[in-house]
Amino acid sequence: MSKIKIVNLQKSFGDFTAVKNSNLTINDKEFFVLLGPSGCGKTTTLRMIAGLELPTSGEIYLGEEEVGMLRASERDIAFVFQLFALYPHMNVKNNLSFPLKMQGYSRSEIKTRVEEAAKLLRIDHILNSNISSLSGGDRQRVALGRALVRRPKAFLMDEPLGTLDAEFRELMCLELKKLHIDIGATTVYVTHDQLEAMSLADRIAVMDGGEILQADEPSVIYNKPATKFVASFIGSPGMNFISIDQGISNEQSTLNIEGTNFNIPKQYEISKGKKNSFGIRPENLSLTNEGGLKGSVFGVEYLGSRKIVTIKTNFGELKVKTDISTSVKINENVQVKPSNDNIIIFDGETDKSLKSEFMNKWQK
Ligand SMILES: Nc1ncnc2c1ncn2[C@@H]1O[C@H](COP(=O)(O)OP(=O)(O)OP(=O)(O)O)[C@@H](O)[C@H]1O
Ligand SMILES: [Mg+2]
Repeated sequence: MSKIKIVNLQKSFGDFTAVKNSNLTINDKEFFVLLGPSGCGKTTTLRMIAGLELPTSGEIYLGEEEVGMLRASERDIAFVFQLFALYPHMNVKNNLSFPLKMQGYSRSEIKTRVEEAAKLLRIDHILNSNISSLSGGDRQRVALGRALVRRPKAFLMDEPLGTLDAEFRELMCLELKKLHIDIGATTVYVTHDQLEAMSLADRIAVMDGGEILQADEPSVIYNKPATKFVASFIGSPGMNFISIDQGISNEQSTLNIEGTNFNIPKQYEISKGKKNSFGIRPENLSLTNEGGLKGSVFGVEYLGSRKIVTIKTNFGELKVKTDISTSVKINENVQVKPSNDNIIIFDGETDKSLKSEFMNKWQK
């Protein structure tokens, strides 16, 4: 079993706390993504799991074993850095066998493992090639192979596709996903790219300011964001918010904002504060001729099959995802209304979703 569990994990550098009281359970064979903006503590969390950084407090379990104070080399975990960290003067085969030689494996064992990894990664035809002659994609595969030959309990990857161009990233994303399905090793993958996270992950932990805000399947993170930050960080573009200066009672089923009715989803906790905000994804808003929030068109972006129309209203800018055939002009007066009941209400003070079921489920 290579379940990874972190309990109340914390890391401070002097007065600054980079990782705050984190709790997570990463299941055996899971592809788990740590997602968040620059500086939110992703790498620090990963380095603590790897044993490259000691926690200030808290525990790390690999399987049933507490490994928090073990050295990296004692943890049986493979850390894949930016995937270009290869030995440029060695050929592919030597790059793959080097880590095993260092660990004192026998020649025949090394041969078996290198061949197996090369076959899995489809680089068996270039084993004798020099690294410098390889394409970016092949280099990535070799770097993965270097981790693979060790047959680690878990893989840790820190933005491994970071330096690749967009087209290539997409391709390598598919490769990684395929490889993960083939070898089924527990993987913790760090990225700040939400699309990458959504396409790769079994589950995602969204981090900000050293805290894990939510950890769940991509569809739950998208549809039931626990906080405003998660709601705006996920999605392209992220969720819209409409701030209101009023509380919402438990029985209330609609709220009228400037003449537009918003249906309040059931099972909400009562908001204690007097300020709240409505969160609505751009695809759940539509343009209308009457009965909507009034505004003017500020921008139009084409996204292939859809259009994003940005509208300036009294409640700030709202982004609406519309059909490509919708015709609007800059500065044109339009109205915006919700096209369904897909609304999340966030507490004005805590920025947390009032739907308690979204919260803290992963920490149990
Ligand atoms: N050795 C260190 N000493 C002091 N501060 C550090 C150290 N390592 C990280 N930090 C700080 O801790 C915070 C989290 O850093 P970390 O590298 O974990 O972020 P990240 O989420 O990986 O960001 P990025 O997406 O930019 O890689 C940052 O503010 C960073 O400056
Ligand atoms: Mg980082």
